[in-house]
Amino acid sequence: MPNCLVCENKIEPFMSFGKMPIANGFLIPAQFDNEYFFELKVGFCAECYMVQLTEHVEQEKMFHENYAFFSSTSNWMSKHFKNVADMIMSKYLNSESPFVVEIGSNDGIMLKNIASSGVPHLGIEPSSNVAQVAKAKGINTISKFFNEKLAASIVQEYGHADVFYGANVMCHISYLHSIMTGIKKLLKPNGTLIFEDPYLGDIIDKTSYDQIYDEHVFYFSVSAIKKLVEQHDLEIVNVEKLSVHGGSMRYFIANKDTRKIENSVTEQLEIEKNIGIHLKPTYEKLSISIEKSKDKLLRLLKSLKEEGKTVVGYGATSKSTTVINYCGISDELISYITDTTPIKQGKYSPGKHIPIRTHENFTANYPDYALLFAWNHSQEIFENERGFLKNGGKWIEYVPKVGLKE
Ligand code: SAH
Ligand code: TYD
Ligand code: ZN
Repeated sequence: MPNCLVCENKIEPFMSFGKMPIANGFLIPAQFDNEYFFELKVGFCAECYMVQLTEHVEQEKMFHENYAFFSSTSNWMSKHFKNVADMIMSKYLNSESPFVVEIGSNDGIMLKNIASSGVPHLGIEPSSNVAQVAKAKGINTISKFFNEKLAASIVQEYGHADVFYGANVMCHISYLHSIMTGIKKLLKPNGTLIFEDPYLGDIIDKTSYDQIYDEHVFYFSVSAIKKLVEQHDLEIVNVEKLSVHGGSMRYFIANKDTRKIENSVTEQLEIEKNIGIHLKPTYEKLSISIEKSKDKLLRLLKSLKEEGKTVVGYGATSKSTTVINYCGISDELISYITDTTPIKQGKYSPGKHIPIRTHENFTANYPDYALLFAWNHSQEIFENERGFLKNGGKWIEYVPKVGLKE
């Protein structure tokens, strides 16, 4: 059995999705023969409660100069991150020399709001193509992987930070102890670590197994984060449940015994106890639900094909790579996937090589059905795609349940 990346205890794998390609590895036909695969397998640590992958893809294989995920493709997420910036600036910059550091700052979706307010900031974004977009917006960005060593050099060059922020990135990093040590070095003694990631409680509740892919090394819960940060003399002082990305949790962390601990922390720990986040059978049940979800989705897609309906995918998400490859969905079941991201268009989906087409392609010739891979953006998408419904089109959803949208 593999060892836990956090506490080194043995972890118990509870689900294998089989061979998987890189979730954001959109490719051209010349690359099909050399495509990289690994076994996507997820396990639970009964000692520190951290749910995690058991095989890991090298970070340079996932985050590089051709990274395909651009945060600013969602207007709703832009608003979300504007609110984050406002919260940081109004509540967490008490000092006379404010400084905000963000890791995984991507195309600057959050930091642009900090930069435009003239607050000293630094974005750390190893994928150089997305980092370049942020730089072009005037956001101070370095294109490196954050770790303990980089933290020390940032302190030397810029001094200590009031806030260290990360959205949908902490769960991507296998070397969490180095990250925590680096954050401690980088923060002022009364500084705040704030991060948000997809929440394990939602994955269990909604059977949203498509959150499981190479980039997501960890599936965080308050229970597991508590144990992790305690090892670094830090403590969770507040948590906030968020609706973004299909259900996320935001953690506020400070040096031990420096802040009041909000009730939200104990309340959420209690909720997690009731869900059984610390118990192995919870994950055995989850794996059964995942298999059922797969069977149901395949049955639905196959029956639509038999009826001669046209079906396309909506949103070439990283999440869709898990669904498509685990369920074995080929271009016979889904003729193409529509996505607004230029770098994905004209390429093929990882593993099953379904073509990625523009949004214009979708609107010019609506299909009978669209399988909503970007289900986490459903409100934004349903608002924008009234024309599809008017045209008689129907949405297929698979989270939280497989079925047609009523
Ligand atoms: N924060 C953005 C982007 C999330 S995608 C949002 O929520 O929309 C994750 C990002 O983290 C990618 O852009 C990736 O390049 C970056 N990343 C991955 N490992 C990192 C590391 N060790 N340090 C800093 N950034 C990292
Ligand atoms: P997202 O669900 O945010 O992330 P992940 O890759 O982590 O699963 O990805 C959304 C994808 O959907 C992204 O490639 C952009 C695309 N998209 C559209 O094509 N149209 C839209 O209206 C929205 C909101 C997203
Ligand atoms: Zn552990």
